[in-house]
Amino acid sequence: MDPYINEWLNLIIRFAHLVTGVAWIGASFYFVWLDNHLQTPPKWKDEKGIKGDLWAVHGGGFYEVAKYKLAPPEIPKTLHWFKWEAYTTWLTGFLLLTLMFYVGAESYLIDTRVADLTQMQAIGIGLGSIIVGFGSYELLVRTKLKDHGLILGIVLLVLATALSYGLTQVFSARGAYIHIGAIIGSIMAGNVFFGIIPSQKALVDAVKNGTAPDPAYGMNAKVRSTHNTYTTLPILFIMISNHYPITYNHEYNWLVLVVIIMLTAAVRQYFVMRHFGKQKPAILVGAVVGLVALAFAIAPKAVKVDAAQTLDITKVEQIIKARCSTCHSATPTDEVFTVAPAGVAFDDIQTMSQWASRIKARGVDSKDMPLMNKTNMTEQERQYLAMWYAKGAPTK
Ligand code: HEC
Repeated sequence: MDPYINEWLNLIIRFAHLVTGVAWIGASFYFVWLDNHLQTPPKWKDEKGIKGDLWAVHGGGFYEVAKYKLAPPEIPKTLHWFKWEAYTTWLTGFLLLTLMFYVGAESYLIDTRVADLTQMQAIGIGLGSIIVGFGSYELLVRTKLKDHGLILGIVLLVLATALSYGLTQVFSARGAYIHIGAIIGSIMAGNVFFGIIPSQKALVDAVKNGTAPDPAYGMNAKVRSTHNTYTTLPILFIMISNHYPITYNHEYNWLVLVVIIMLTAAVRQYFVMRHFGKQKPAILVGAVVGLVALAFAIAPKAVKVDAAQTLDITKVEQIIKARCSTCHSATPTDEVFTVAPAGVAFDDIQTMSQWASRIKARGVDSKDMPLMNKTNMTEQERQYLAMWYAKGAPTK
């Protein structure tokens, strides 16, 4: 595909994914907050069948919200549903996955150092993993396990760990991370499509027909929406993880991901409990301590610099020109990246020096540049750049 068209498509789809995702998660956060803050209503409201009462002030006005025990006496003419936010987020996410990781598989999904796949094999494994992950959840959530939240949570975490490990053994690290994100996102959208919306439809139908709605429907929707509450923060992390090779490019990247999923889910738990007025700062502190511990555990080894070793600036320039500037240049020679990626170009020692800290971060510490080590950079060359950086990235 023409790189210019590809960039525009990428921008438009990513923007749409971001906007729809904000709408979905925003509504989801709001309703979780709302439900958890409802108070016992005064008697006259209780007599009308209202079980939850809430007052809020926002945007220059007072709002009075009422939640019915089961349903209002009749269905109002205008009833708002919240589903398109979820469906369009999934759809734009799938398009973005396809454009970046399937159309661009050779650059982003296939890492020949991990597995030498063809584009078709990579796409097959990618789609297969989404079907397996999503399918396993859909089977599990329909069994009795759904009534045992903790056990189901553990089973799902084991499954996620297995998938995370498996995917990092076949895909580029970022490709593996984004597929876990795609699986979680599909499960979340599936929860809306297969659980929450059908149960709401049944509720509305029951009210219209004057029959009692089957409580099993409501329970099923509650379980699924609870799951969506805890996957929100993990999926948001995965969406931005592409920018953080410190996480995905670590040797134990599959485990790093699982730990971050658990920590972010714990943060969500803190806020959910706070909604009920239960202050459990220990959860938040625990998550922060866990994160700091993780940061220490995966820190790159400090490079020992021999002060006596002399630095040859032309050699620094040669290394970066040969290994990085095939893509990062005003005139790239790479056949795929014909425009300097991220606008980052290293054409002379001055710009190289300006970018030294990012060169250190991505070429020495996390080693995720050159992308998939396309230009075969050696460990010695990385060490040489580390020495240059340690000496203050001089230009002469
Ligand atoms: C095969 C092409 C390719 C080569 C070779 C390459 N890069 Fe990149 N680089 C990319 C792409 C694509 C991006 C944008 C996506 C991203 O940020 O990961 C990028 C982004 C970057 C960024 C900007 C993002 C940031 O973290 O600030 C830096 C810095 C960078 N590369 C450094 C390097 C260094 C240093 C080398 C050589 C050791 C190198 N790259 C070699 C493709 C390449």
